[in-house]
Amino acid sequence: MIKKVLKYLTILFSILSTLPSRIIFGNVLSFKHNLKPLLNNLKKKNNFSNEINQNGFKKINYNLDPSLIDQISLKYNKLINDEKFSCSYQNNKKKFIIDPLKNIPEIQKLVEIFKDEILDYYSSSFTIKQIRAFRNFTDDSIDWKRPRYLYSNLWHFDDFISNKLKVFVLLNDNTDKDSGCTRIISRKNSKKLIKNFKFKHTSLINEKFEDYLNKEDLIYYCSGHKGDVYIMNTQNCLHAASIPKKTKYRDALCFEIFQNMDADEKIFGLEKDDFVHNLKYN
Ligand SMILES: [Fe+2]
Repeated sequence: MIKKVLKYLTILFSILSTLPSRIIFGNVLSFKHNLKPLLNNLKKKNNFSNEINQNGFKKINYNLDPSLIDQISLKYNKLINDEKFSCSYQNNKKKFIIDPLKNIPEIQKLVEIFKDEILDYYSSSFTIKQIRAFRNFTDDSIDWKRPRYLYSNLWHFDDFISNKLKVFVLLNDNTDKDSGCTRIISRKNSKKLIKNFKFKHTSLINEKFEDYLNKEDLIYYCSGHKGDVYIMNTQNCLHAASIPKKTKYRDALCFEIFQNMDADEKIFGLEKDDFVHNLKYN
């Protein structure tokens, strides 16, 4: 009983602490994460007419040599099944490849697909600070009213500086809502759900909320084929992974991208991925 009260008090406190951002910016980030890009904008303005700024996300179909993505996919499949190069998370519901850029150097060529779009979004240079390569597996809770929280599969916002971007590269053909694709809600509709309190907190997500999203047709399923790219602002858009149906799994790469005001900096400024390294070595 006391545990339950404490849990709900924590949720209430979390909702109250994000009220200023909820009312002013239509998101639930900490206030400093909304302010910093505004201050940077005094030096260099972000491009507000850019589609990612307007809509919150954008798809770009694979447009490079087909042999490149096949080569990446081949290496990815070898490594994800090799215990020396991979590690498991959440009782084997998710697997990561260790140091993907080092082990699959061809990944860096994929930047060509989305580079121009991101330069346009920031109106400045950018830095890729992290790259993850992972596989999501199915789980029994897929049919539950509230599935288990496994790998960001409940609706949420990421809490980072508000102009940070994530780029997902699909690594399976026929990726769709049955195979565990990312689900996302446009910036405009996410804002509405925040301001009218339909979305209160990830811990309070229930079947009713899902039904509402479906009834209003608010969910965009990030479907596509091997090599297709989704650029998204996960601070401004409600999003969630989905659990692949039985016999299916979902492979993807994810780049974490930050604005860089210094044009001389290199695009790749990878930081050590402590989360994945700790899974492997601790
Ligand atoms: Fe997220």
